[in-house]
Amino acid sequence: MNILYTAASLLTQVEQWRQAGKRIGLVPTMGALHEGHLQLVRAAAAANDVVVVSIFVNPTQFNNPDDFRLYPRLPEADAALLSPAGCTALFLPSVEEMYPTPAVLRFDFGALERVMEGAHRPGHFNGVATVVSKLFHLCQPHRAYFGQKDLQQVAIIQQLVADLSFALELVVFPTVREADGLAMSSRNRRLTPDERAVAPRLYEALRQAADLVQAGAEPTAVQTAVAEYLAATPAITLEYMEVADAQTLQPLPGPWQQQAAVALCLAAHLGSVRLIDNVMVMS
Ligand code: PAJ
Repeated sequence: MNILYTAASLLTQVEQWRQAGKRIGLVPTMGALHEGHLQLVRAAAAANDVVVVSIFVNPTQFNNPDDFRLYPRLPEADAALLSPAGCTALFLPSVEEMYPTPAVLRFDFGALERVMEGAHRPGHFNGVATVVSKLFHLCQPHRAYFGQKDLQQVAIIQQLVADLSFALELVVFPTVREADGLAMSSRNRRLTPDERAVAPRLYEALRQAADLVQAGAEPTAVQTAVAEYLAATPAITLEYMEVADAQTLQPLPGPWQQQAAVALCLAAHLGSVRLIDNVMVMS
């Protein structure tokens, strides 16, 4: 596995691959890799000739400076995991390499970013769209791999690809969970043992919410039930829980008119760590 530190070296490598007719898979990450990331890398390796994994803790998508400062950075351990998973080249740029000049262009995804993560993390999706656009231009992948764990991010990137005519296929994989249900996340490493012990309750709350939706409960009743369930654990502070249309991610009004694909999404704080999770269900 090659490690590339500069945009120029990635562009040169990509040009060689393209001339040789290689299919390129890209897995963008912020590192501190876990099984959720590795699932994407293995899938990319199975479907493409070469796989680029980027590891870049992107400052422009962090609205909280402490979250950026404390985000786990483990490049050596990450590199050791990537080669066996089928990664051909690890792109590991510095902030100066990715942002030689501060980005001035601003993205506005309309209604899509006025809800959930977009509403609660101002500027977050602008930063995501900026860095993912840069990675798409530098890597020119045939396919790019993302996780459903970040459901709204997937919707934003689908819109980005459509609006800017990126000639690539987006591939989305389901959320990988720990044995106790907690969605894998690089930020889980920052949980204290006590916080880690109660963290699976986020997924338990979503499972209960899914059961309620299937039993016909209205969105507000589902939101109340989740809030009450999580309020019983003082270490967990719920930031939002949305019952949303799975396509548009806009809040669904109740009562249900007809069968709908529903996304149940939440964000919560455990101490200084903010976690998100979601499940999909039919009403
Ligand atoms: P990061 O949080 O490192 O995630 C990288 C990719 O792995 C994303 O597509 C994310 O959805 C996916 N992923 C994370 N946890 C997962 C899990 N438990 N199961 C399945 N997939 C999972 O998302 C980002 O980085 C950044 O915003 C990025 C797209 C790299 C732009 O900076």
